[in-house]
Amino acid sequence: MTVFCWSLGLLMLAISRPAVDSLPVDQVIAKAEQQTAAFLAQYDDSTRFLHSQEAKEKAITVGMRGWTAGFFPGKLWYLYAFTGDPRWKKEALRFTLPLAADDTLTNTHDLGFMVGIPFEKAYQITKDSSFRKVLIQAARSLISRYHAQVGCIKSWDGGPWHYPVIVDNLMNLELLFRATALSGDSSFYQIAVSHINHDLRYRFRKDFSTYHVLDYDPETGKLLARKTWQGYADSSCWSRGQAWAIYGLTVAYRFTRNPRYLFYARQAADYFIHQLAAYADRIPPWDFNAPDSLRKLKDASAAAIAASALLELRNYVPQKANAYQQWALQMLASLCAPSYLNTDSGSFLLVKHATGDAHHHREMDVPLIYADYYLLQALWRYSHPVTKGHAPNFWF
Ligand code: GLY
Repeated sequence: MTVFCWSLGLLMLAISRPAVDSLPVDQVIAKAEQQTAAFLAQYDDSTRFLHSQEAKEKAITVGMRGWTAGFFPGKLWYLYAFTGDPRWKKEALRFTLPLAADDTLTNTHDLGFMVGIPFEKAYQITKDSSFRKVLIQAARSLISRYHAQVGCIKSWDGGPWHYPVIVDNLMNLELLFRATALSGDSSFYQIAVSHINHDLRYRFRKDFSTYHVLDYDPETGKLLARKTWQGYADSSCWSRGQAWAIYGLTVAYRFTRNPRYLFYARQAADYFIHQLAAYADRIPPWDFNAPDSLRKLKDASAAAIAASALLELRNYVPQKANAYQQWALQMLASLCAPSYLNTDSGSFLLVKHATGDAHHHREMDVPLIYADYYLLQALWRYSHPVTKGHAPNFWF
């Protein structure tokens, strides 16, 4: 009886866990092409960017100032990279070019997402130096938000804060590292490093989960409070925030080789993985510490971001490379399976069950463009592993 139960247990585990032998990359890309073509047939305006979907054949788009505007052209560039179809290059350029107007924005920290993502890909593919100029100008605008007393870039204007610095902000520092590489001006790099060094003083709890919002006094640079905005509570771990931390610190290590950044990237990843072990489908809830009843709500975008980050991190931690790869593949296998991959007719986005902001009851259990973007990036990294003698190109 014991042996039978044990075998049954193993069988159940094998059934419930995603199979990772190989990921159906070609099928996912074909689906993304079909969905994107259907979206474009209905929504032609290249200053409105696919963000989410509210009903069959009914998209939610954002304008050029939306923080998610860059992900749709980013996804189009991946479609071009995967397929080589000139149609996707044409569409990618069409939706990238209007975002050049954002390179002078100084009221947002999201310029890495909005400008960095589409223009970095445009530059790498076309080598057109005007795209390089846009990247450098966007980095210039981003560092205008740096305050030497705090040592960090300010994430948000307005709201109930004094000088908020959010974990998501780590993601936009890649633009600064790249701007130094593209321009030779080290001030972008120095500000990115200052931001991270100050951030690491307060970002992590003892268990290496992350706080979402650090609020500073801009006069003295002192930390005033550690809060959440999108997580369940100030003391809980918002899963997408944790994924941003893994990703952002892995990128910081890529550019600096600072072992301290790698240490924190690994700790953030290990916390995420440890929590994920409780979920058979390997997709996190929107907040790891929300009460049981609220943890049924998933955030598939956090899985896509973390999977992509782990496929880079694995290259820097030889002793854990296999484990990080396996966890990434388990998340990806779930995202590519029917429970998470949208194959309904009239769908414009791949990934189901993402959550934007459950704290404010917004965008709960919906498709979100950034989940698609990081899924495609992770599949790109999975299909193009770093091999000896080949320099990694993780900023593609
Ligand atoms: N960076 C905004 C978010 O993750 O919701």
